[in-house]
Amino acid sequence: MDGKNRIDTLNNIKIFTGNSNVALVEKVCDYLSIPLGNATVGRFPDGEIDVKVDEDVRGSDIFIIQSTCSPVNDSLAELLILIDCFKRASSARITAVLPYYGYARKDRKDEGRVPITAKLVANLITKAGADRVLTMDLHAAQIQGFFDIPVDHLLAFPVFSEYYRERDLSDFVVVSPDVGGIKIARQYSNHLNARLAVVDKRRMGPEETEVGFVIGDVEGRNAIIVDDLIATGGSICQAARVLKEKGAKDIYVGVTHPVLCGAAIEKLSEAPIKEIAVTDTIPLSGHAKSLGAKIKVLSVSSLLGEAIKRIHTNMSISSMFTEH
Ligand code: R5P
Repeated sequence: MDGKNRIDTLNNIKIFTGNSNVALVEKVCDYLSIPLGNATVGRFPDGEIDVKVDEDVRGSDIFIIQSTCSPVNDSLAELLILIDCFKRASSARITAVLPYYGYARKDRKDEGRVPITAKLVANLITKAGADRVLTMDLHAAQIQGFFDIPVDHLLAFPVFSEYYRERDLSDFVVVSPDVGGIKIARQYSNHLNARLAVVDKRRMGPEETEVGFVIGDVEGRNAIIVDDLIATGGSICQAARVLKEKGAKDIYVGVTHPVLCGAAIEKLSEAPIKEIAVTDTIPLSGHAKSLGAKIKVLSVSSLLGEAIKRIHTNMSISSMFTEH
């Protein structure tokens, strides 16, 4: 802690967390030079969640940082119970900080008799008592509209752009693994001053995708595939294969949220991918660490810390991205 980001103007800010990503939260606290709030988030003997905040929070500006990642339902329930706890303890304002917003992929009724779970989660967070939400690289930006409280939506691209600029990759093309990801990929290509290509992917089921063709010229170039998340790894691995077939040289992957479920690790280790860069919005499992040097974790702690500082001091968040 060098204290350079310490918030001196207002000192009633407090950061708390559940159990989903303590390492990231500690880094955010380091960035802000404030200690992590004292709370116990444990379990009753029957598995129910037991929360006790061990310090005074009356009148405080509370930030609860909790990725709703695996175990998804436990992480979500911890967040909701923490919000309820701070509301009843008379804190001044509660911001739910979700570096990774789980259940985001169920964001519309694309067939009969299915829920819109992303909206349900928004209702739960709001009803529990959150005053605002801070999140990052939502699967669909319009999920912000599921809330009637302020939502600040951070983008991880400055962290990746800086990383790839330092890597100094020559003659490369930024690739979106599907049509839905073009907007994100365009941001990267603008910031890295690189060409853009798109893989035509069709989803056949939750674990099954089919790749058609590539729009854009990748032959003889290095490729960076960018996406919001890797779940089963199907989309990324198929995109990497089709890019290889089209003559791409080295293939890099830059993905914000390493959900990495099912057989993702096996698929990624076998795929023609040189390196996978992810962020620490979700902690890597021990199994994922078996990817060794093929996986590189970039931290979004400074981005989150800076956003928290700006929310607390009523400064612009959007300028964090336009200044880049
Ligand atoms: C799709 O729209 C998303 O951006 C991801 O590409 C997708 O959810 C990743 O899923 P999987 O890794 O299971 O293919």
